[in-house]
Amino acid sequence: MSGRGGKRRLAVIGHPVAHSRSPAMHNAALTELGLAGEWSYEAIDLAPEEFEQRVRALEGEGFVGANVTVPHKGAALALADTLSETAREIGAANTLSFAGGEVRADNTDAQGLLDALPDSPAGTRALVLGAGGAARAVVWALAREGAEVDVWNRTPLRAEHLCAELGGRPVKSNPMDIRCYGLIVNSTSVGLRDEDAFAELPFEAAQLEEHHTVADLVYAGRPSQLLTIAAHVGAAYVGGLEILVRQGALSLEIWTGRSAPLDVMRSAVAEQDVSR
Ligand code: ATR
Repeated sequence: MSGRGGKRRLAVIGHPVAHSRSPAMHNAALTELGLAGEWSYEAIDLAPEEFEQRVRALEGEGFVGANVTVPHKGAALALADTLSETAREIGAANTLSFAGGEVRADNTDAQGLLDALPDSPAGTRALVLGAGGAARAVVWALAREGAEVDVWNRTPLRAEHLCAELGGRPVKSNPMDIRCYGLIVNSTSVGLRDEDAFAELPFEAAQLEEHHTVADLVYAGRPSQLLTIAAHVGAAYVGGLEILVRQGALSLEIWTGRSAPLDVMRSAVAEQDVSR
């Protein structure tokens, strides 16, 4: 069943959500695929107490799918009628599909990260920073690919809990010796505001070397301090916008069955950067 004007509607649901680049990214992709006449993508701000009831009503309003972001990824999993194995194992969903009165939940954050990395992490020693919602998909993805994963978190107990559930080994030292790691992934929120990343994270800028690959999930409208230093020392690096594009591409493929136009999606999120 389709809603207003017969469009197949898609959305990103968050709280807040006005800052999201997903509508620009997905609408650019839909236009490129020649689907903009039938499909559209918007942002919906829902407070946690409204989430379940409104999501259940979306199919009746013509929605066929939604991305779900902070703080709803756990609630999205809880309300779904069917879960992908990935979403179930990670314990969070970022992609919902609506059909036949049922809600299906997927998680494309994990594969999105793997797709964004310049090389497979198989056999690599990886240091994951953070143990919140974002870190769950990262640890799951890297462990499943065969990386040896250490998890550091400001609050060590959360890292212990996450590793007990998803794999990986909690590490506590601060400062850390990071020479042994091939891959370092920042999945804390450090860098979102103007904090000094190296005052908050367990190593100094001078410890980053050319042999590291650095991934930073944070995007804040400017290259992060972590990625700026990584680039400076000649390390490989990937930023939050590329990871956003890759998870979005996988969601779009689930909903439309079409191959996502990555370059168009990259340009759409980058254009938003300039206008901010
Ligand atoms: P998200 O869903 O984005 O991961 P979250 O669940 O609130 O959000 O987790 C935020 C992560 O960033 C946590 O790992 C948090 O560390 P704590 O568990 O100690 O709170 C981390 N974080 C936030 N601010 C931080 C800071 N200033 N220094 C270090 N880590 C920080």
